[in-house]
Amino acid sequence: MENFTFNNPTKLIFGRDTLDELKTEIPKYGSRILITYGGGSIKRNGIYDRTLDLLAALDMQIFELSGIEANPRLTTVYEGITLCREEKIDFILAIGGGSVIDATKAIAVGALYEGDVWDIITGQDEAKKALPFGTVLTIAATGSEMNPISVITNWETKEKLLWTSPYVYPAFSILDPVHTFSVPKEQTIYGAVDIMSHAMEHYFSAAPNTPLNERMVESLLTTVMEAAPKVLANPEDYEGRATLLFCGTMAFNGVLNQGMNGDWSTHVIEHAVSAVYDIPHGGGIGIIFPHWIRHHLDTTEKKMKQLAIRVFEVDPVGKSDREIAEEGLKRLRQTWDQFGAPNRLMDYQIDDQRLLEMASKAAPSGRIGGFAPSTLEDVTEILKSSL
Ligand code: NZQ
Ligand code: ZN
Repeated sequence: MENFTFNNPTKLIFGRDTLDELKTEIPKYGSRILITYGGGSIKRNGIYDRTLDLLAALDMQIFELSGIEANPRLTTVYEGITLCREEKIDFILAIGGGSVIDATKAIAVGALYEGDVWDIITGQDEAKKALPFGTVLTIAATGSEMNPISVITNWETKEKLLWTSPYVYPAFSILDPVHTFSVPKEQTIYGAVDIMSHAMEHYFSAAPNTPLNERMVESLLTTVMEAAPKVLANPEDYEGRATLLFCGTMAFNGVLNQGMNGDWSTHVIEHAVSAVYDIPHGGGIGIIFPHWIRHHLDTTEKKMKQLAIRVFEVDPVGKSDREIAEEGLKRLRQTWDQFGAPNRLMDYQIDDQRLLEMASKAAPSGRIGGFAPSTLEDVTEILKSSL
């Protein structure tokens, strides 16, 4: 196990009817509030009206930024920054999924930054401060509600980049499973796949002696595999939705990876695919991950074998390590097929036309990944096998 310091300052408020907590939380931070949200799901499912009713009881000025895209764009972040500056916003409330929260993180930093926030996203400069913000999460997926990570797409340059800053932990996040009842089937599937992928990106790590981390990841995977089918069969299954929501946060809030670093190549490759084709993140991840594991099987075999036995219930008797790992991989694919996840890039009309462009975006320095490093050629092969 490697040395670590763990500090996650986000206050997590979880459970039924917890939206009411806005009345206590928001006045701690300000009175000129910007509400950020996406394409309108919060208006259709009533969260928007309930939030405004709650805020009406407080003496506050409310401003809005709507229309944040899935795979949020830099241009929308700029709009939010301008609004914050013009209206002297002192607190932002993000209501939505990872996209709304990620855009809000960039707005929160950009509003207090004199230069172009893109320089922070590209890593040319560091954020020194940010406006405080909270979230009302409406979908189980990314973990953005309790992590310091944001992913922004610059559609002009066709770059989708992940950046982090200790200043972009949400001050609080409200997670009411009922808010996720209206998540459509496809998005529920993408979320479940993304959650499992975050857990597995941590798992494929070279750090020695990480038994608790591994057992936590395995437990999280098994839990998602039990809950997702229930929720897909009955979208209003409160306990199932609650379980997925908690798994989503725990998969990527820093708990699982203390003392070990994962690989994350699959995420980098998917972001490159999304930068060119604008596909849903969880959809792309579910296609690419099994191909990454298979491509690097000489390196991934030991961990995949362990997953095969402990999570996918493969009987190891009479099988070589490679056969056990292969069987586990097959069952991972079957699990995602049973959820209904896409399994070929062709499902998104992606062919071999722009393979090299995507590979170069994924590995601009010619190499990515920590546990099983991928060269440009490896990435191209992984993408080709994902077609
Ligand atoms: O825009 P609206 O109308 O709100 O609809 C959204 C959107 O169309 C809809 N939705 C969300 N909650 C709903 C709902 N529809 C009905 N009822 C609800 N309760 O779902 C669609 C997808 O939303 P989005 O926020 O894009 O999904 P997700 O949470 O999966 O976020 C994906 C983004 O996060 C990035 C991805 O790359 C992608 O850009 N990621 C962020 C990470 C992070 N910050 O830690 C890590 C991840 O690995 C990921 O890369
Ligand atoms: Zn992800």
